[in-house]
Amino acid sequence: MNFAVFASGRGSNLRALHAAQRRGDLPARLALVLSNNSKSGALEYARAEGLAWLHLSGKTHADPDAAMLEALRAHAIDLVVLAGYMKRIPDALIEAYPGRILNVHPGPLPRFGGHGMFGQHVHAAVLESGVDLAGPTVHVVTGDYDEGPILGHTPVPVLADDDIASLERRVQAAEHDLYWRVIAQHFGDAG
Ligand code: GAR
Repeated sequence: MNFAVFASGRGSNLRALHAAQRRGDLPARLALVLSNNSKSGALEYARAEGLAWLHLSGKTHADPDAAMLEALRAHAIDLVVLAGYMKRIPDALIEAYPGRILNVHPGPLPRFGGHGMFGQHVHAAVLESGVDLAGPTVHVVTGDYDEGPILGHTPVPVLADDDIASLERRVQAAEHDLYWRVIAQHFGDAG
């Protein structure tokens, strides 16, 4: 099973997935790293590790959607794993990979999802709401924001003295342990 990771930022989930593969916990192969951001930590990591990578945006390619599909075919990608990818997924990709695009969301769904809910906005909304439990959710990507079937969630207690940064740190640590487990369970070679 070949998977691609799409990431726009730091790339900590990318590293955690690659580490799980290397430990032998994730029976699958990280075959492509794609980013819309040439300066992302994700691409820096991919280059340093000798992974196949692609910088793809409206500036790099005249038809980025077509180029994306072509790259996935060229690398024989079976599963697309979004890990902090902040661009909209083209409909053509959702049609080409039905049920085979995953996302990790940094909060409970559906309550803390939807348009504009990403990154620290999610942690701010969780703190504002006064709920006791936060935590990441892995779901299948469909045409609607954050609304596909949920495959995994880790409850993370909200502490009395949490701020956005402290909650984000604990949620991301939970993401790093959740994402590979969900992929291994549902899509791994032995899954
Ligand atoms: C992660 O916390 C992920 O849940 C979030 O972006 C962060 C990326 O961190 N994704 C979203 O908000 C998507 N709606 P990383 O680049 O260190 O993996």
